[in-house]
Amino acid sequence: MATQTGLLAQVLVSLVSNSADAIPPDRPGNVTIRIGPGAPGRACLEVEDDGMGMTPDVMARVFDPFFSTRLSRHGAGLGLSIAHSVVKAMGGTITARSEPGKGATFRVEIPEASGTPVEGTGFAPLPT
Ligand SMILES: Nc1ncnc2c1ncn2[C@@H]1O[C@H](COP(=O)(O)OP(=O)(O)OP(=O)(O)O)[C@@H](O)[C@H]1O
Ligand SMILES: [Mg+2]
Repeated sequence: MATQTGLLAQVLVSLVSNSADAIPPDRPGNVTIRIGPGAPGRACLEVEDDGMGMTPDVMARVFDPFFSTRLSRHGAGLGLSIAHSVVKAMGGTITARSEPGKGATFRVEIPEASGTPVEGTGFAPLPT
């Protein structure tokens, strides 16, 4: 069975790879990953880039299966729709913020884990 950690890692890879695709090839770009508390009881993961950004009509469709603006470069248009399903199954939300030419930020919020870590995820609680 896929662990929650593994599924979240897949979401993160999807978001970072979209950010990399959105950086124009003629200049270096920045991708920032931010992790922290979200709304009460929720954990937040944000991936922000300073790439080409999106128009409102593209943004309205980014989570649709098979929607891609990079079909000529073999984008299947599945990354974000899968990420959306995964996050939704965890009881979370994924939202996008962007303006053309001003980069994009994707924000994932999921319920905070409670109790002890599941054995085999490779993570132990941080010492306090
Ligand atoms: N960070 C971003 N900046 C600008 N546009 C984005 C960004 N992330 C997603 N998009 C837009 O959303 C579309 C859908 O993204 P999605 O990850 O679902 O598919 P894809 O990247 O095109 O293909 P795949 O992920 O299946 O390889 C992209 O084609 C692009 O137009
Ligand atoms: Mg993608």
